[in-house]
Amino acid sequence: MGAVSGRPEIARVWTTTADTRARYDRISRYYEFIEGVWERPVRRIGLNALSAAPGESLIEVGCGPGYALVDIARAVGQNGRAVGVDLADGMCRVARWRVIRRRLSQRAGLVQGDASRLPLASGSFGGAFMSFVLELFDTPQIPLVLAECQRVVRPGGRLVVASLSKEGPEPPMRRLYEQGHARFPRLLDCRPIYAARAVREAGMEVTSVRTVSLWGLPVEVVRART
Ligand SMILES: C[S@@+](CC[C@H](N)C(=O)[O-])C[C@H]1O[C@@H](n2cnc3c(N)ncnc32)[C@H](O)[C@@H]1O
Repeated sequence: MGAVSGRPEIARVWTTTADTRARYDRISRYYEFIEGVWERPVRRIGLNALSAAPGESLIEVGCGPGYALVDIARAVGQNGRAVGVDLADGMCRVARWRVIRRRLSQRAGLVQGDASRLPLASGSFGGAFMSFVLELFDTPQIPLVLAECQRVVRPGGRLVVASLSKEGPEPPMRRLYEQGHARFPRLLDCRPIYAARAVREAGMEVTSVRTVSLWGLPVEVVRART
């Protein structure tokens, strides 16, 4: 593995968007049993960093089955709006179900779309949230996705990203995970990235970074001003 300015490079991602979409469509019905639940504590920390308030319009990019989306919808209240975007129709379907079951349809909506070309108007949200999504994108795509988040959020709004982190000394669990990712990139499709650096390089002001451990894997929860 090479290095840029003394730090180890992040792994490249060779799966296509069509592959990603097909994979998440396939696993959408049982996603919560394989990944969704064990990531919950980190999502909670991310949602605290977002601190959604009544009346706000917020977007979740790569919302998956809608765990965070329903929490955001509750927090924005009946005068607010929560929009979840996901590439996979299956994930949108499961998230829509979750929203309906919790009687939140008036304030939460789902849009099928690609994070690198969000099908939403510029400046239409006060903030954006993304958990375990940015690290799925190949290195050159990461700035494009962040630019899209920045475009749809009003200037002075906020972005919260929770992502597996490549920062700091190498814990054994991350080394093992990265070996697994290199061998089985479709199964372990997320890989650790430099999340706060990427947000900063995209031109946003990082206002807080919290690093937490998820089963020995470092995760960065980054909050930034757009
Ligand atoms: C690891 S899951 C995380 C789901 C959710 N954010 C969570 O924390 O439970 C990644 C999600 O990103 C979605 N995704 C992947 N590539 C995407 C893209 N290009 N645009 C929008 N969503 C995408 C997948 O369909 C999947 O639902």
